[in-house]
Amino acid sequence: MKALVLAGGMGTRLRPLTHSMPKQLVPLANKPVLCHALEDIARAGVTDVGIIVGDWHKEIEEAVGDGGRFGLRITYLPQEAPFGLAHCVLVAREFLADDDFLMYLGDNVFADGVHALADAFRRDRPAAQVAVTAVDSPQEYGVAVTAPDGRVLGLQEKPREPRSDLAVTGAYFFTPEIHDAIARIRPSTRGEWEITDAIQALIDRGGEVRAVRLSDWWKDTGRVEDILDCNQLLLDHVTTSVRGSVDAASTVLGPVVVEPGARIIRSHLRGPLIIGAGCVIEDSYVGPYSAVGANCALTDAGISHSIMLQDATVTDVNGIHRSVIGRSARVGAPVNGTGRHRLVVGDHTELEVVA
Ligand code: TTP
Repeated sequence: MKALVLAGGMGTRLRPLTHSMPKQLVPLANKPVLCHALEDIARAGVTDVGIIVGDWHKEIEEAVGDGGRFGLRITYLPQEAPFGLAHCVLVAREFLADDDFLMYLGDNVFADGVHALADAFRRDRPAAQVAVTAVDSPQEYGVAVTAPDGRVLGLQEKPREPRSDLAVTGAYFFTPEIHDAIARIRPSTRGEWEITDAIQALIDRGGEVRAVRLSDWWKDTGRVEDILDCNQLLLDHVTTSVRGSVDAASTVLGPVVVEPGARIIRSHLRGPLIIGAGCVIEDSYVGPYSAVGANCALTDAGISHSIMLQDATVTDVNGIHRSVIGRSARVGAPVNGTGRHRLVVGDHTELEVVA
C-alpha cells in the first residue's frame, strides 16, 4: 500500500500565518503538522509516499526532504492549483499506479494514528474505507450515512439536513477502483473535484465502502482555534525532559520539555509545555499547553495555552492566552509607557486589545 499526503491548498482560514508558510508546516507541540502525519504513516507500515504540493512546494520539500528520517521514500507531486481532493488523486495517478493507497490530509491529526485503520483495510479490503467520528455539528463536515454493519450507504457534503452525525475524517483508504469513479465525476458547484462525489460514485456502482469509527480524538487543523486545541491535546502526552538549563530561582511544575540550549532564569514553568532549543525565558511565566519554538525570548512576560513560532519575542506583556505568535514576531509594551498602542499588524491578523 502507498500513501498520498495532501499538502497543497490555500489555507485561507489560517491567515495571516499562511501568508508566509503553508498550513501543513505550522508547528504543533513544536513539530510541523505534516511531520506528525508522516510519522503516523510510517507507523502504519507504509513506506512509499507521494506528497501533493502547491505554491509552497519549496518550503515543504526543505522541511521534509526525501523522507529518509521518517523511514519513508517521498515523491513530490505538484498540483497546479487546489482543484479539490479528487483532483489530487488524478495528479497522483502515475505515482499510485495500480496500488491500494491511503489518502491522508496533511493538516489532520489522529490521536491514535491510522495504523488500526490500515490494518482493518488490509484485512477486509473493501473498494474504499473512510474513517468516521461522531461530531456535534455534522453540517460542517462530509457526513457518512452507514448501515449497522459499517457499510456506507451514502455520503453528504456539508448537509443542511444531516442524516447522520458521523463526520468523514482525513484518512481514506482506496483500491484502484477509485480511479474509475473519479473519471465519472465532474467538478462541484464550488469548482472542486470532490472526493465525496467519487466515493458516492463508487457506492452507486455497487462498490463496497466501509466506515471505521475512530477510537480517540481527531483534529482538522484548518483554523487557529483548531491549532490551539490540537496543540493542547498533543501536549497532554509530554513527559518531562529538561536538557536546557533551569536556574535555582526558577520553578518547574508538571510535565515540561526544555530543549538543549534553552535557558530558564527566575521564571515559572507550569506544564504541560515545551520550550524549544535556544530560548531565553527570563522573569517570566510559561503556563500549561504552551509550545514555544526555537530561539524565542520571553522577558517579564506571561503566556499560556499558546504557540510561539521560532525567533518570536514577548517583553513586558503578561496574560497572553490562546494566542499564536508568528516567526520573528515581537510583542512588547510601549517603551515610554504612554498607555497608547503601537501596532504593526500584517494582513488578516487578529488582535484583541484591552482598551
Ligand atoms: P482544505 O482544508 O480544504 O484546505 P484549504 O487549503 O483549501 O483550506 P482553506 O479552506 O483554509 O483555504 O484541504 C484539506 C487538505 O488537503 C489540506 O492539507 C490542503 C490539501 N489540499 C490539496 O492538497 N489540494 C487541494 O486541491 C485541496 C482542496 C486541498
